[in-house]
Amino acid sequence: MRYKRLGTSDLEVSVVGLGTWAIGGDFWGSVDDRRSIETIQRAIDCGINLIDTAPAYGNGHAERIVGEAIKGRRDKVIIATKCGIVREGPRFIRNLKPESIRKEIDESLKRLGVDVIDLYQIHWPDKNTPLEDTVNELVKLRQAGKFRYLGVSNFDRKLMEEITSMTEVVSLQPQYSLLERGIEKDVLPFCQERGIGILTYGSLGAGILTGKFKEKPKFEQGDNRDKFYPFFREPLWSKAMQLVDVLREIAEEVGKPVAHVAINWVNQQDGVTTALVGVKTPAQAEQNAGAGEWELSQEQLERIEAAYKKIFGSEDMN
Ligand SMILES: NC(=O)c1ccc[n+]([C@@H]2O[C@H](COP(=O)([O-])OP(=O)(O)OC[C@H]3O[C@@H](n4cnc5c(N)ncnc54)[C@H](OP(=O)(O)O)[C@@H]3O)[C@@H](O)[C@H]2O)c1
Repeated sequence: MRYKRLGTSDLEVSVVGLGTWAIGGDFWGSVDDRRSIETIQRAIDCGINLIDTAPAYGNGHAERIVGEAIKGRRDKVIIATKCGIVREGPRFIRNLKPESIRKEIDESLKRLGVDVIDLYQIHWPDKNTPLEDTVNELVKLRQAGKFRYLGVSNFDRKLMEEITSMTEVVSLQPQYSLLERGIEKDVLPFCQERGIGILTYGSLGAGILTGKFKEKPKFEQGDNRDKFYPFFREPLWSKAMQLVDVLREIAEEVGKPVAHVAINWVNQQDGVTTALVGVKTPAQAEQNAGAGEWELSQEQLERIEAAYKKIFGSEDMN
């Protein structure tokens, strides 16, 4: 496994990180908690040290499962969680009001069973709360020792400029993959210029970039991934399938899984620190960790780029 320094922090994070949205259990279909714990532990055994979670994933459930899984292994992991999305039944409500964050962080610490959160991220912007109020509260919470470093997620360039003029931010967590390249225009260059780390989400295009879907999947009840990620609908689906054929060709050449090609493409883009990859089983965790053992050649990267341009033209997939 390769490790990189996260932005200006002193955190050395694995280039493949573990995403826990699915193991929250209420958005990606059914999951088994015992298996989720084994999955997290297998990931750690395979060298993954960055675990990304959030109170929003199963309304605290993912954090509780992470807490269980890391008992006795706290020193081996970097825990990244978030604030600002509060669940009301199935709804995801944005709330970055200071009193809400104060409550959220104490609940996260308790569920995770840790004294301090390594990376605390603003999950989504909240236009109903002045950013300055949120930042002032977060600075107090950091000074109180509740978390070590501040990160953000889903911020555009303007918001990045705003928040970095108020306080230090070590990382941004955007959606980024071969199916969603929107950050390349101005967010990624801004982060590179400022030395802000990038943790990508949706790195496998919700599973599409593993090459396992040969036709459009019909997800079981409760698996809502296609409501968050648009790639399962036309015209994106057919284009994604064409691109997967190219990834498959390279995977066969190097004798590795297709998922590795997708993960390594993300990780080898300038400015990216870690590809977060969501998992449901120990086997997936182990397979994905293997991507951290090798890299695509320059020729393979160029072949993917040429195929991407041919398939998607200059339009991006937003
Ligand atoms: N900040 C944000 O707003 C935000 C938003 C989304 C996600 N995230 C974070 O980023 C993480 C990663 O994104 P994501 O989970 O949404 O999407 P993703 O990583 O693109 O896809 C994850 C899904 O792909 C499938 N998969 C993973 N590895 C596989 C393998 N080796 N072989 C076959 N299938 C495999 C699994 O589902 P199946 O087995 O059911 O197909 C898994 O749940 C999340 O878990 C979360 O921590 C953050």
